[in-house]
Formats: sequence, structure tokens, C-alpha cells
Amino acid sequence: MDPELLLNVADYARAARAKLPKDVFDYYEGGALDEITLGENSAGWEKLKLYYRVLGGVGPRDMSTTVLGQRISMPIIVAPTAFHKLACEQGEIAMARAAKAAGTLFILSSLSNIAMESVFAAGGSPRWFQLYIYKDRPITLELVKRAEAAGAEGIVLTVDAPGLGTRHRDTRNNFRLSDGLSVENLAPVGKGDFPEVKGSGLAAYVRTNFKEDLGFDDLDWLCGSTRLPVVVKGVCRGDDARRAVEHGAKAVIVSNHGGRQLDTAPATCDALPYVIDATGDLCEIYVDGGIRRGSDVLKAIALGARAVLVGRAVLWGLCVAGEQGAFQVLEILRCELDEAMLLCGCTKLTDIDESLLQPCAVNRESLKR
Ligand code: GLV
Repeated sequence: MDPELLLNVADYARAARAKLPKDVFDYYEGGALDEITLGENSAGWEKLKLYYRVLGGVGPRDMSTTVLGQRISMPIIVAPTAFHKLACEQGEIAMARAAKAAGTLFILSSLSNIAMESVFAAGGSPRWFQLYIYKDRPITLELVKRAEAAGAEGIVLTVDAPGLGTRHRDTRNNFRLSDGLSVENLAPVGKGDFPEVKGSGLAAYVRTNFKEDLGFDDLDWLCGSTRLPVVVKGVCRGDDARRAVEHGAKAVIVSNHGGRQLDTAPATCDALPYVIDATGDLCEIYVDGGIRRGSDVLKAIALGARAVLVGRAVLWGLCVAGEQGAFQVLEILRCELDEAMLLCGCTKLTDIDESLLQPCAVNRESLKR
């Protein structure tokens, strides 16, 4: 397809679908069970309406910000997503370079097809490493120590996957990695391959390897085992977010794993306000799930998020045109956010507040004067 005609995330999604083998497209796109949460994530952002401000004399916009003290050019972060070599030959290296070119944070999934050392060396800063807790504690610790040595500047602990949500598409497709690909970070310890089973090979991998009885004691252990800040990803409740902070998390990501874990979990735009209320100024809150437009980013910030993560959106770019495609998607979202800021009357991110999501009633008496 003519790249000039790829104008938005939905265009990239269509082009990716046309290009990818069905099982790969289904793996990236699919959600758990009836895919209710998957659909509601993006529908939720669409449903929020923007009560834009006018005549605000908005000049050039500044959307740069920081995440845990690290500067990024925009409040849009590359989410950890698995198995990028299914999308393009350069895999996670291409994604890391796209994030670097866009001046934003790249979070590498532990389920990558290229070892973290090579990916981090090819990309830029800031870079964080996403972690699952394995049943085998020494294996988990080794991942953390390798990430530290490879230059990771934060550890993102995913807490919503003590088991894998059932994804019927993957079951039907017998989803597995193509020949020659593995869970590369785990290959040195003999955990690089999916078990040979019918159905989803990833589900079997998670069942075999991930710690099912994940608890706050695991978060304590992690915070005590690394000098890096720990970010907890996969929270939808205020009380859990608060406890995560009390147990050492420096930031929380409101996420339902892109609708891939517990189906009928709330859309993240609905969960976010509860988490913001419960945590106040105690930590930074980020959100992901269904972000497809720059205006969605603005809405997330209006609700109190510091930044958003995008997963599928950038994956579609990666599938269509590798590093350049992922970069283009990030730039599309940047331009859309810039336009939304202009049209909402916001010069900087701190001008974006909740009042943009509510009609502001005017006292009628005051109008009579
Ligand atoms: C991996 O994290 C997945 O959701 O497939």
C-alpha cells in the first residue's frame, strides 16, 4: 500500500491485516474470550467527549514530559508487546530504534525474540524492561540482573498474568513461534521454547513457567532485589494501586493487558479515575488499552494519567514497514495530540484537565447582570 495513504492507526491496522499470516495477526489483535474488554477499551475513549476551550490564544504546543524523572518528547510510550520478529525481520531492534527516533520511552517485553542486550544496545534512553515472575526465582533474578547490566532504567512488573487469559483465536490457530524464533531472553536457561501441545503454545508456556500464586510479597522481593525503580503494570482498582505503592512501586500502569486477560474487566478509561483518586500524588500513573488517536491521549491526561502506552498501534506500524512504520505511527499520534491540544485550547500538558471532559455550568444569575 502507498505509505502516503496510511494516515492513521486504523489504516496501519488494515494494512497489517492484509500483510500478516492469519495466526500472527490474530495473536496481536485478539483478546480474551468474547473480547468484550478489548472492544470497550477503545470504545471508552471514543465515548468521552471533549468540551474544548476557545479563544485561549494557544501558541506553539509543548508536549514534552518526564516519566520517573526521565525526559520524553511526548506522553506516548511504546508498551511492552511480545514477539516482534513475527512482525518484521529486525524485530525488537526496529521497535527500539523507532522509539529512539521519536524521543520516547521503549519498554521491552521479556517475551522478545531478540535478547535484551542487543535490543538495548541498538535503542536509546529511556529504556525499561518488562518482567514476568517465573516460578523459578533464580531465573527471574537473573533476568533482572541482566536487564540492569544491559542498561535498563526501570523494571515494569506485569501483575495481571498469573496465568494467560484464554484467547480462542490462538487456540484455534495452534499459535506458536515460527521456526528459528524463541523466547530469546530465556533461551540460555532452557525456557526459550513453547511446550509441544495442541492449542496455544503461549498459554502452555505461561502455565508451565509463570508464577501462579503471585502476591505482594513478590513485589517486595523484586523491589528489594533491584536498584531500578519498579513500575507495576496491570492494575484496575484503586486499592491495589495504593498497596502497590506501599510495597515499593514508583509508578502504576492502569491496564487490562489490552483486553487479553480477564474478559469483562473494565475499560481502562473507566478504571483510571479510581486509581488516580486512591493514589493522589503518591506516584505517577500511566494508562494503556485502546489508545488509537491523539485525542485519546489528551483524554487520558485529562483524567489524570501522566502518559499513555501504545501497543497494537505501533505493532501495526512495525508489521507494515518495520522501524519506519512504527516511527510513523508514533509521529501520527504526536501530530494528532498536537492538533487536539490546539483545538482544546491547551499550550502545555498541564493545561489539560478534567474540565475538558465536562460541560461547565454557568450560574444563570450572573448572566443577568
Ligand atoms: C503477552 O504478554 C501477551 O499478551 O500475549
